[in-house]
Amino acid sequence: MNCIRFAFLPALLIGSFLNAEVKPALMPLPRKMTVADGALRIDPKFRVGFATRPEARLDRAARRMIARLSAQTGVPLASVPVTDTRLATLVIECPETVDRPDTLGESEAYQLDVTSSRARLRAPTVVGALRGLQTFLQLVVPGDGSFVAPAVHIEDEPRFAWRGLLIDVTSHFMPVPVIERNLDAMEAVKMNVFHWHFTDDQGWRVESKRYPKLHQLGSNGAYYTQDDIRHLLAYAHDRGIRIIPEFDMPGHSATWLIGYPELGSAPGPYSIIRTFGVYDPVLDPTKESVYQFIDGLLDEMTPLFPDAYFHIGGDEVNGVHWKANSSIQSFIRSHQLKDEGGLQAYFNQRVEALVKKHGKTMMGWDEVLHPNLPKDIVVESWRDRESMAKAARDGHPVLLSWGYYLDHLKPAGKHYEVDPLEGPAKDLTAAEAARILGGEACMWTEYASPETIDSRIWPRTAAIAERLWSSANASDVASMYQRLDRISDSLTWRGVTHQSNYAAMLQRLAPTAPLDALRTLGDAVQPLGIDGREGHHAYNQETPLNRLVDAARAESVRVRRLEEGVARYLASPNLSDEAAIRRELETWRDNHSRLESSLTASYLLKEAAPLSADLSRLGTMGLEALDALRARKTLGPDRAKGRLDALTLMEKPRAEVTLAAVRPVRMLVQGAAGGH
Ligand code: ACM
Repeated sequence: MNCIRFAFLPALLIGSFLNAEVKPALMPLPRKMTVADGALRIDPKFRVGFATRPEARLDRAARRMIARLSAQTGVPLASVPVTDTRLATLVIECPETVDRPDTLGESEAYQLDVTSSRARLRAPTVVGALRGLQTFLQLVVPGDGSFVAPAVHIEDEPRFAWRGLLIDVTSHFMPVPVIERNLDAMEAVKMNVFHWHFTDDQGWRVESKRYPKLHQLGSNGAYYTQDDIRHLLAYAHDRGIRIIPEFDMPGHSATWLIGYPELGSAPGPYSIIRTFGVYDPVLDPTKESVYQFIDGLLDEMTPLFPDAYFHIGGDEVNGVHWKANSSIQSFIRSHQLKDEGGLQAYFNQRVEALVKKHGKTMMGWDEVLHPNLPKDIVVESWRDRESMAKAARDGHPVLLSWGYYLDHLKPAGKHYEVDPLEGPAKDLTAAEAARILGGEACMWTEYASPETIDSRIWPRTAAIAERLWSSANASDVASMYQRLDRISDSLTWRGVTHQSNYAAMLQRLAPTAPLDALRTLGDAVQPLGIDGREGHHAYNQETPLNRLVDAARAESVRVRRLEEGVARYLASPNLSDEAAIRRELETWRDNHSRLESSLTASYLLKEAAPLSADLSRLGTMGLEALDALRARKTLGPDRAKGRLDALTLMEKPRAEVTLAAVRPVRMLVQGAAGGH
């Protein structure tokens, strides 16, 4: 399934292909690219045409691409493709004429040729053409007198067939527009699977006509109607994205049991669990009525979702209710199942047979791994990479999600380093490694709302998308970040809110404070991920996510750029970096006095007052170190140690954020410490 055979052109992007200042930022990097002289102008005469009559999905995609190109450039463009290809600026050649569901492993290859007079996109499949259209959009940059696409020859196809994003819609419900804009963003970076985590202790989010108490009692009215689901399935299909539904069982199942307590392993009553974690409610695998219910549910749900794969969860069963139930315990003994793990394996086997009966292939989290399970079950490894290697060795197709958990709010560079074929996978045979289908980024939403979720997913997920699409040789983190910043901007043109709601969320903290000062504070901090937040505060579904920790973006671009500038300056002192560093440090130093009165007046921002005061101290400390470096003096060991100790204290989380601004200041202080 994986095509790692090709020769990759590291192509630190397009070299000096035209006079334009701005070079295209392609993400994911294509497999092979060569650059020629010249560039194609994007002006109001730009037209798209098809070499042969297009399949309807491709026709819609072309119209959408033209609309995006027009939005991204501000150039008015006719949205209707032309029928006479002699009039077309971009000609699309794709032989597929019949719409069909996308399937795992189908070709997504395309070839894109741009010259100064024309562009030509060729793909054997519609989905390949969709990928090529996204590359074309990313090629367009402001050139000499107009927007242009540089002359290139690109041959591209993915390394992994499965490049997914999971969104949990249970902890916090995500309305239809949230899903739409995230599908738009996935399309931009060539991701092809949306894993929809529909049910959990905190919510049942799908309308069930057969068992209506599931959504009626399990969702507080926040669920997708079957029409919503059909709409989003079509929306995703148009973008070449398959949808995998997940109905988590036998654990994480409190919302099954509110209306149907007889399916549970304890008498109940049950209710929606509003807090987050692992809880006891669990289906009773010893009851035939449970399998009849699941059969009925599958009978209703499997026709709704056209994809061949169906995820049954299977994670985090704590066994508490099974241990406490004497009839379940005697079932374990009489069936020689050994323990609760054996009981879950028995349950999985029964469910697998039902999933298969309904024409689907079952998927589960790595807890489902068991010698008795059929080998076509897809295992999704989230707890570690060893389970991925073990599943592959045991004969299962497997996905990696460990390392791609977005809710930990790790830097994009950390996710970028995680390659499914590295680590324990290195010991696999070629046949075993070929079972690694790809991976999925996971967005669990205990600490994300419809307002904040985009900023938790994007732009970092684009780095994961590249890891899964591009060659393993695409590993230059600096290049990745340069392009990520540009992709991040371009996602804003698609309606993703990771940038666009930042100012509003900051201003809400203190409506009369100067926005630029709020932004300076927001840009200096980074929010804690799930492991940091869960210990700090008693969160539940109704806790407002409207504090500084929620407004702050997962990875501060401004701090990263300052770190890059400081690294350059320390390696080779120069006036332009020095001036930029000085400006930023002065801004920090002076920021607290500009914010102080708002900080104390705002109930939301009060908790950030010590951080703001420390940011000023950081500015002063950084300037002291910069002055020493400039004068070729050292701070001296005692002073340097005092400063470094103070920095360590400042880095401790407060108000559920860390002061990321410490990092570049530490670099300066260490640089000026004088050999210490
Ligand atoms: C999981 O994160 N519980 C799959």
